[in-house]
Amino acid sequence: MTQNYKAALEKKLEEKSARVAVLGLGYVGLPLAVVFAEAGFHVIGIDPDSRKVDTIRRGDSHIHDVPAEQVKRLVEVGRLQATTDFSVLGNADAVSICVPTPLRKTGDPDLSFILNATEELAKYMHPGMVVVLESTTYPGTTREIMLPKLGGERGLAAGEDIFLAFSPERVDPGRSDWTTYNTPKVIGGITLACSQVAAAWYRQALQRSCRSTRLRSLRWPSCWKTPFG
Ligand SMILES: NC(=O)c1ccc[n+]([C@@H]2O[C@H](COP(=O)([O-])OP(=O)(O)OC[C@H]3O[C@@H](n4cnc5c(N)ncnc54)[C@H](O)[C@@H]3O)[C@@H](O)[C@H]2O)c1
Repeated sequence: MTQNYKAALEKKLEEKSARVAVLGLGYVGLPLAVVFAEAGFHVIGIDPDSRKVDTIRRGDSHIHDVPAEQVKRLVEVGRLQATTDFSVLGNADAVSICVPTPLRKTGDPDLSFILNATEELAKYMHPGMVVVLESTTYPGTTREIMLPKLGGERGLAAGEDIFLAFSPERVDPGRSDWTTYNTPKVIGGITLACSQVAAAWYRQALQRSCRSTRLRSLRWPSCWKTPFG
């Protein structure tokens, strides 16, 4: 009998019993981890930079937009953890990837961090997982680079066993009117089911989110209009 991973995962996300992991605890990842933790999820941030991990563990913040008191409170109540150990991904239900994509001299993004994060995540992929790529990148990265490693090579079907989506981060660090919490998000899944699961997750934590039907048909809906003028 085929297990209905979608329904089971959506239930966990709606009940906030899903275990959330955020890969990359920088300007994008730490605010997002905090927003998920504030919403009631148990969140673990994973970053190879042990200084950032240690800062969070002692209840401090290395990101100006995230107050140290907020990190301290969330760490103390056990809703926010940080580690350099990628094996915790084996227990994760929902993973957000917020790694850097610096521009090369040629003007195209350096995807090596996305590749490294994908390789690490692939070791721990299991059915009933949702993965959202937040990093700024060019069209095709999710489907052509991530999907084969996270799905195909492991015999996991997108939209049935695992749920993969792209939701480009649009945060403008330093602003207090438009934050990670209230900036509308566009979410495009590999399949409609992937979009639905990713939206079911983000809807629990963000003030506003919207979804597209499919990654390939991700158009610029009205909510995409930039709040930054
Ligand atoms: N900062 C912004 O204003 C902003 C706005 C919109 C979009 N973005 C995009 O969001 C993405 C993240 O940007 P950022 O500003 O948060 O970068 P950042 O450099 O502040 O943080 C990225 C973090 O990822 C960590 N990292 C590197 N490799 C990793 C791996 N394999 N696994 C886990 N963590 C890893 C780094 O140690 C670092 O702490 C980029 O694609 C960027 O273009 C950034």
